Amino acid sequence: MKRKGFPADFLWGVATSSFQIEGAYDQDGRGESIWDRFAATPGRVADGSNARVACDHYHRWREDIELMRELGVGAYRFSIAWPRIVPGGTGPVNEAGLDFYEALVDRLLEVGIKPFVTLYHWDLPQVLEDRGGWSNRDTAAAFVEYSTHVVKRLGDRVSSWVTHNEPWCIATLGYEKGAHAPGWEDPERALRAAHHVLLSHGWTNEMIRSYAPAAQVGIVLNLTPSMPASESAADVDAARWFDGQFNRWFLDPLLRGSYPADSVQDRIQQGHLPDDGLSFVRAGDLKAIARPLDFLGVNYYTRAVLHTDGEGKPESIVTAPQDELTDMGWELYPQGLHDLLVRLDREYDCPPIYITENGAAYSDGPDDAGRVRDTRRVEYLRTHLAATQRAMAAGVDVRGYFAWSLLDNFEWGHGIAKRFGLYWIDYASQQRIAKDSAFWYRDFIQANTTAQGAM
Ligand code: FCB
Repeated sequence: MKRKGFPADFLWGVATSSFQIEGAYDQDGRGESIWDRFAATPGRVADGSNARVACDHYHRWREDIELMRELGVGAYRFSIAWPRIVPGGTGPVNEAGLDFYEALVDRLLEVGIKPFVTLYHWDLPQVLEDRGGWSNRDTAAAFVEYSTHVVKRLGDRVSSWVTHNEPWCIATLGYEKGAHAPGWEDPERALRAAHHVLLSHGWTNEMIRSYAPAAQVGIVLNLTPSMPASESAADVDAARWFDGQFNRWFLDPLLRGSYPADSVQDRIQQGHLPDDGLSFVRAGDLKAIARPLDFLGVNYYTRAVLHTDGEGKPESIVTAPQDELTDMGWELYPQGLHDLLVRLDREYDCPPIYITENGAAYSDGPDDAGRVRDTRRVEYLRTHLAATQRAMAAGVDVRGYFAWSLLDNFEWGHGIAKRFGLYWIDYASQQRIAKDSAFWYRDFIQANTTAQGAM
């Protein structure tokens, strides 16, 4: 059989995040996070659910590591809950929080699964939000302080660190669109927040290197290729506009040391920034943000198609037929992953890439025989892995792939109704059931890590 698989040392993983799976919201000294507050506010989470229990991973983590062993993954990307480590945002450390993650890391290492640790996946201590959250520059310093505690405890065992997950979501969904915690609808506040998130990344990058010099440090961006709905000049410009605000606003400072000038102008024109532009950027900030990265984490789910509405405003629209949409309403568009990876390689001086999230929400549950036939998820994974491989064949340096997600979990503003897991969760009993996609992923990994394997 001809082997057209991935390199033997390609890292195969699954991803989760603390708030989405852990539960145990008030145990062992954990403080309140902005997501606890947001989910407890009526009307914020679509299905009215919260994550007080979620997947109860805080108590079931040993069992969940067994699921990863069943899959045969080589790595597990998870995040650390800041409110478990420093419940007051700054100040005293909660040792019980560090103990929890230390036990998790030790067990992963014991069974040969590499911990790939994200320091911030959106659960900011509420006390910091009360002081302005990410729009307050002091939060960047608080993040370094919290991260230092984590790195001092785990830096001898964890060799891959992600500072932030998806700064665009933190800033734009959290502070501009009001769709995520903390729920602001204030574009200028969002741009400040984005800058402070990036700044805290840069400072933390430096800090990690001082405590764990051999570690690999990166950041995870959600990147969405944007395409014009037509060839009209207005639609082409709308696609440029979207790309600037969504992708380049983060890629450029990180990889080029500057914000994209056209997007700064767009923001001024939209009234999101004053005429003097980025007044909150101080001398030295961009240099810190652009410190070299060991890897870039790419989360890919779909593309955006842009057109201009009746008033000439750019607008993202869905053009695909219903059967090509996931339960999130996101278009199935694997070619976008290929194009994105190639673009990163060609347009930027890009470090090696890990695909740190990729997956799909489909609600398929157990049939009468208890089997979850989630064929659409299998197809999603299969086509996106094929796209990844095509990009690698075109010369892009991709080192690993993490499926989102190990388990169905609390999908933020959508609640538990959207299911991304390879394992089905029965929330009432907390039973985990392997979906067909879990078996498929297991077999795919196996076929691609043995010399005889084939896709
Ligand atoms: C990403 C998030 C992740 C999950 C997926 C579906 O934006 O990083 O936590 O919610 O989307």
